[in-house]
Amino acid sequence: MCGVENILKKEQLTKEDLVFLLSLKGEEQQKLFDYARKIREEQTGKYVYFRGLLEYSNLCSKDCLYCGIRKSNTAVIRYIVEDEEVMTAARLILSAGYGSMVLQSGERSDRKFTEHISYLLRSIKSLSDNKIGITLSCGEQSEEVYKEWFVAGAHRYLLRIESSNPTLYKQLHPQNQLHDYHQRVKCLQNLKQIGYQVGTGVMIGVPGQTLSDLADDLLFFKEQDIDMIGMGPYSEHHQTPLYARKDELLSQNERFYLTLNMIAVLRIFIKDVNIAAATAMQALHPQGRELAVKVGANVIMPNLTPTKYRENYQLYDNKPCVSDTSEQCMGCLQRRLASVGTVIGYNEWGDAQHFFNKKT
Ligand code: 5AD
Ligand code: FES
Repeated sequence: MCGVENILKKEQLTKEDLVFLLSLKGEEQQKLFDYARKIREEQTGKYVYFRGLLEYSNLCSKDCLYCGIRKSNTAVIRYIVEDEEVMTAARLILSAGYGSMVLQSGERSDRKFTEHISYLLRSIKSLSDNKIGITLSCGEQSEEVYKEWFVAGAHRYLLRIESSNPTLYKQLHPQNQLHDYHQRVKCLQNLKQIGYQVGTGVMIGVPGQTLSDLADDLLFFKEQDIDMIGMGPYSEHHQTPLYARKDELLSQNERFYLTLNMIAVLRIFIKDVNIAAATAMQALHPQGRELAVKVGANVIMPNLTPTKYRENYQLYDNKPCVSDTSEQCMGCLQRRLASVGTVIGYNEWGDAQHFFNKKT
């Protein structure tokens, strides 16, 4: 009797089980994928939710060693999307019936920025008569700012931990107070305490990362009681310091399939969370995002950033859809989802069941 089936059926997966499942390849990997898909369908039906993604600004005060829009990258032309363009994206979401928007931005903590985000939140809420659910992804902020944004209308927040291993986290970031692992964990805890549905995630395949680290990431999501998870493969950017370690990387294909394993194992390990099919999946594989849905993801984010800004929001090389319009991205993802037999959940916020399950 093969070990995979036995492990998949277990009530509680141990760290050892997680490492074993993450290592699967070939036929056994397919069993993992099929099982994860079954769990997703039991948990979320065939529904996949859209979040219209607006990459609001690439101004960033941080210098993460892997990120193409890090402060020190002077080759990037910095931008802030005009208010009217934000509202156009919101109207597009409303008319398409997507139900939700993600406002993502490089990290800034100055008052001018944080107050303007509050203003945009109120404007989107009032324009849509509260119909659009808003997820923010604007980095580490004080508890007061998180509260202000919650009151202004954001109800979900994404802040990836990048790696739950503090040593690896250190290797991916400059050594200063602005890039502190413990501060990041504190932010996740503050967000939860304020009442947000909290999302986090990691990059998969960064230099120096082991399967044991990835299993610990899954345990971290459980320990921190996370509602939403976005995980994508690390994809190098040629204008970043981490690019120097590109020879240590797994191949693109290996990173891609390891990410699929992470998504599938997560779906089995924490059944009721929302899992996003990250755009970076498509940088490494032409069907990257729909394959992520096939093995357990249930959220997908069509890019609604005006085309003229997109080339300056390249966190990694080969980012897909850089020259597309919002309408093209919307149509393209609808077709991609249809190709894997899923149904789009229109006019709903599509919140994670996990958030409600723990309250009852
Ligand atoms: N490769 C893959 N993902 C990246 N991100 C940033 N840089 C890269 C990269 N080079 C991810 C980080 C961040 C999110 C917004 O994008 O995980 O949290
Ligand atoms: Fe901007 Fe990491 S470089 S938050």
